Amino acid sequence: MSAHKIIIAIDGYSSCGKSTLAKELARKLHYNFIDSGAMYRAITLYFIRNGVNVADTEAVNAAISDINLSFELNPQTRQSEICLNDENVEGYIRDMLVSDKVSEVAAIKAVRTFAVAQQKTMGKKKGIIMDGRDIGTSVFPGAELKIFMTADPDVRVMRRFKELHAINPHIGLDEIRHNLELRDYIDSTREESPLRRADDAILLDNSNMSREEQLRFVEQLVENLVTDKKSIAAN
Ligand code: CDP
Repeated sequence: MSAHKIIIAIDGYSSCGKSTLAKELARKLHYNFIDSGAMYRAITLYFIRNGVNVADTEAVNAAISDINLSFELNPQTRQSEICLNDENVEGYIRDMLVSDKVSEVAAIKAVRTFAVAQQKTMGKKKGIIMDGRDIGTSVFPGAELKIFMTADPDVRVMRRFKELHAINPHIGLDEIRHNLELRDYIDSTREESPLRRADDAILLDNSNMSREEQLRFVEQLVENLVTDKKSIAAN
């Protein structure tokens, strides 16, 4: 793969495998992968731990000014993990308590301004893959490659169930379905940069695709882009 580094934005509905694809692609391309959802989840964890009332603007602003987010590399998995005020919270942020609240927190303007400013800085050096809800529309509107992922809702529920059941055997399908539906609804209808497909994003419905197939699909898109750039440069 070429040394010409680009920005890849992956957006889409809850639990359709954005992070799985982004991680595998980042490994192949030697790119940095940033899970923007982890940032909103870590902020939500802070709000829960500190009893921040989302309707209280002053309390929200004070909380944001106390939050420092960073990523650290896990040497075993070679993946970056989110830290909240220097504490690695990767193990807590997928908890249902956080999932139930995160879309409400992520809809707050001040929260988005705070997170998006950091995300934009991370993209300055290019060679980055970021997944989320507003990456192609708002964080990196100029990204060279934008993917919008979707999958059949039943498939998404089953995927998330398998993931969470391994950690918590008491989790139920209905609870997961309800959470995904609610988050998709809040994320798509909020005022601040709602989830929507950017006009120039390529749609990827992976309901019937394996991990390898979806990876090959996107690798091919990257390859085409890089080859196009080379031929433009040669002319
Ligand atoms: O569960 P899943 O991996 O699909 O979601 P996530 O990527 O961890 O994101 C959790 C929540 O954060 C979403 O439901 C959105 O409310 C919010 N989010 C956002 O508003 N903007 C982003 N760029 C990423 C996530």
